[in-house]
Amino acid sequence: MRYFFLTYAFLIVFVISIFGCHGDKFSNTPIRIFPDMDDQDYIGAQSKSDFFSDGMGSRKPVANTNPMGHSQNTEVSEELNGYGNKTTYLHTGLINATNFGKGLPEELDLKGNKENTTALLTRGQEVYNFKCAVCHSKSGDGKGIVTEHGFIGIADLRATQLPEGSIYDVIVNGKGKMGQQGRDLTLYDRWAVVAYVKMLQEAAK
Ligand code: HEC
Repeated sequence: MRYFFLTYAFLIVFVISIFGCHGDKFSNTPIRIFPDMDDQDYIGAQSKSDFFSDGMGSRKPVANTNPMGHSQNTEVSEELNGYGNKTTYLHTGLINATNFGKGLPEELDLKGNKENTTALLTRGQEVYNFKCAVCHSKSGDGKGIVTEHGFIGIADLRATQLPEGSIYDVIVNGKGKMGQQGRDLTLYDRWAVVAYVKMLQEAAK
C-alpha cells in the first residue's frame, strides 16, 4: 500500500511538472490533450475562401430577408423604422389611456403628399399579402387559404367597424384567436397595413 501512495504522489508531481496548472503561462506551445474548441477554422472579414463556390469568404444577406432591427426602408425616418416603445398614437394607436384613435398618425406626413400616400399603400399591400392574406385572404373577406384546412372564425376585414388605432392594436397585440402579427413589423409597416386594410374596405363598398 505504501508503494501505491508513493507512486501516486510521484505521478501527481510528474504530471503537474509536465503540464503545469490551469491558467499557467508558457513561452512554448502547450501540450493539449483535450483541445476542446480552442482553435477553430475561421475566415477573416473580406478574405477569400475555397469553401464556397463563388470564392468569397463573406456571405451576402439572403435575398428578400430583413434582419431584425434593420428595416431596409431608407425613405422614412428612424422613428418610423423602429419598433415602438413610446406612448404616442404612432406607437400604440391610443389617444388616451383607454381609447383608440381614428385616422393615420401625422408622423407619416400624408397630408397633401400623394407620393407618401402611394408609397405607404404599396408597402401596405406587400406586407398585407405576406402577413395577413393567408388568413384574411387577399381581398380581406376572411376566407384565406387556411380556411381550407379547418381554421374558421376569421374576421371579414371589409366589414370591421374598428377605427385605425384599434386595427393597429390588433396587428401588434392580436385579438381572440388571432395571435400577435406586428412585433416584427416596423411602425411604418404596421401603419402601412392599417392604411391598406382601410383601402380594401373602401374598395369593397
Ligand atoms: C393566423 C391567422 C391570422 C392572421 C395571419 C391574421 N389574422 Fe387577423 N384575425 C384572425 C382571426 C381568427 C380573427 C378573429 C379574432 C377574434 O375575434 O376571435 C382576426 C381578427 C382581425 C381583426 C379584428 C376584426 C374585428 O372586427 O374584430 C383585424 C383588424 C385583423 N384581424 C387584422 C389583421 C391584419 C392586418 C393581419 C396582418 C398583419 C392579420 N389580421 C393577420 C386571424 C388572422
